[in-house]
Amino acid sequence: MKFFLDTANLDELKRGANWGIVDGVTTNPTLIAREGRPLDEQVRMICDIVDGDISAEVVATEYSAMLPEGRRLAKIHKNIVVKCPLTRDGIKATSTLSKEGIRVNVTLCFTAGQALLAAKAGAYFISPFVGRLDDIGYTGMDLIRSITQIYRNYGFKTQVLAASLRSPTHVIDAAQAGAHIGTMPFKVLDMLFNHPLTDKGLEQFLKDYAKVFQETPVAG
Ligand code: G3P
Repeated sequence: MKFFLDTANLDELKRGANWGIVDGVTTNPTLIAREGRPLDEQVRMICDIVDGDISAEVVATEYSAMLPEGRRLAKIHKNIVVKCPLTRDGIKATSTLSKEGIRVNVTLCFTAGQALLAAKAGAYFISPFVGRLDDIGYTGMDLIRSITQIYRNYGFKTQVLAASLRSPTHVIDAAQAGAHIGTMPFKVLDMLFNHPLTDKGLEQFLKDYAKVFQETPVAG
C-alpha cells in the first residue's frame, strides 16, 4: 500500500518526507486555499519536496475549461496527476486527458457505480471518500471493498486511492480492503506510529542496558 499525504502544507510535507515513507501527495482546492499561495506555485513547491505522484485539482467545472486547466497543471512537473471531479464534465475530461497520456485522479467518488465510470474513462486513480460517507451514516469502508472487487473482476487498471481517511483505523481497514493507496492528513500518519507498549518497552530496554554498561564502560 502506498501512503500519500493529504495536505498542501509544506512543513507537514517536509516532516513526512523526512521519514522516508511518503509516496505521494493529494491536494484539493480547500487544502490549497488554506496555504494562501496560487495553485500552480504551491504545487511546484510540493513537487520539490516529495518525489512521487502529486494530485492537483482543476477548479473549472465545464469540460471546455477543464481541458486547458488540466493540460496546464500536467505541464508543471512530470509527477503531476490532474484531479477531476466525478461529474459528467469531469468524466468526459478524464477520458480526453487520459487519451492524451495525462494521468487523472477522479475525485469526490461516493458510489461503486461512479467508480466504474471513472475506470471506463481511463482514470489513473479513483478517490472514494471514506470519512465523508461515515459522516452521513454509511460505512465508508464498504465502498472501498466494493470498488476493489469490481475492478478486480474486470481487470481495470485504475488504482483505488482511499481518501478522506480520518484515523489510523481507517488506514488499516483500507489496507485490508485492498486499496492501492491511502491518503491521509499528516496528523493521521503521525498517529500510526503510536503505541504505549512501544514506549514502555523501549524505556525498559534502555534502563536494563544502562544498569550494566553505564557504570562499566566497554574496554577498547
Ligand atoms: O482530499 C480529499 C479528502 O481526502 C478530503 O478529506 O477529511 O476533508 O473529508 P476530508
